Amino acid sequence: MPRWKKNKSVRAQQKEQARLREELELEARKEFQHIDELASLVIARDRGSEPFHRLFPYRQGFSPELVRVFLNQAQPASGTILDPFSGGGTTAIECAREGAPALGFDVVPALLFIASSLFEDEIPALPDDLADTSFRNLCLRLKHPAHVAMALCCAARTVTGEGREKQADSSPLEMLRAQMAMLFEDRSRERLRGGFFVQADARELPLADGCVGGILTSPPYIAKYDYEVVTKKISALYADLGGGRSGFQIAGGKRLKAPPPRRKCHEAAEEAIAELAGKSGAKGSGMIRAYFLDVERMIAECARVLADEAPMWMVIAGADVCGVYIPSDLIAKDIAITRGLHLEALCHVRHLRHSGKILGSIENAAPRESLICLRK
Ligand SMILES: C[S@@+](CC[C@H](N)C(=O)[O-])C[C@H]1O[C@@H](n2cnc3c(N)ncnc32)[C@H](O)[C@@H]1O
Repeated sequence: MPRWKKNKSVRAQQKEQARLREELELEARKEFQHIDELASLVIARDRGSEPFHRLFPYRQGFSPELVRVFLNQAQPASGTILDPFSGGGTTAIECAREGAPALGFDVVPALLFIASSLFEDEIPALPDDLADTSFRNLCLRLKHPAHVAMALCCAARTVTGEGREKQADSSPLEMLRAQMAMLFEDRSRERLRGGFFVQADARELPLADGCVGGILTSPPYIAKYDYEVVTKKISALYADLGGGRSGFQIAGGKRLKAPPPRRKCHEAAEEAIAELAGKSGAKGSGMIRAYFLDVERMIAECARVLADEAPMWMVIAGADVCGVYIPSDLIAKDIAITRGLHLEALCHVRHLRHSGKILGSIENAAPRESLICLRK
């Protein structure tokens, strides 16, 4: 076969391989809103200066400002605001500051423990006679839960966003004293009330139908790491104290080598899985299918617990797995619509990477972070 004919047939095959994702992308281009300010709301740059949020350096958290925008613009129904992927507790903490009752679920107990400690009624000063020692020994000596929680926050400052150890500027006790001073400063201005944190799996929400006034959340993205890795140090310290173990993590590296579940997921995700399977040595198809099956369950649960006309805002990013482009944001939006939620806005937050892939007729398809605004 002449080379030009071969190239043509390869291109036609590539185009066919990407047809469903290309359709999703082209359709979404008509719907996308580009709101520049959104990028700063989703990347939590201001957390370090915001009362209470500054206490826990959780890099995967979104900005407290996003919670305020949600409360002001999304018109939640009366009732509790839910974040089924609570992480650092941004949603519930900021809702409390704004006087809205809120509930945070997560599968990492240490995260829930830290967030809930900020809602304690009385927090005494640190004992005077603490010896400067390791975070583990400090945690074992401390009696008050808020003291332990603040020690865990300090320990979290000694790891990078990817969970690697990094050098601290001061000793554990010095860090803890500075941390307590920050906590007391924030509490001297305002007290947090009306936030609850419970260990629960977002795929099976322990809530009655229609009882939630709004959902603001960000599920895990398809990533090469588990969120558990990021919080490994504080989870280990917390487990040593008799705290619970982490539950099932959606997405993540551990599943990269796992065989795909039998049940199929969204057809555009299946298309990506088929492309991945065609690449020699490419891993990850099992993880992708499992991820979207979990996202389907989570969205179905959110749709179930939302009150009629209540909003759900979700921040979610696409991915590039071994060179295969996956528009997770558009797939999640599609799943939500099939679950009976209405799309109010699809907001392009930012590109996670600028050099894109050819996807059918699209020259530059790159993983993107989006805010999907839905309503029941
Ligand atoms: C992107 S982070 C959320 C960050 C949060 N919005 C904040 O501002 O801190 C995703 C969270 O989902 C949690 N998670 C993963 N799998 C889960 C599951 N099956 N159920 C509930 N939470 C889960 C992870 O532990 C992680 O804390």
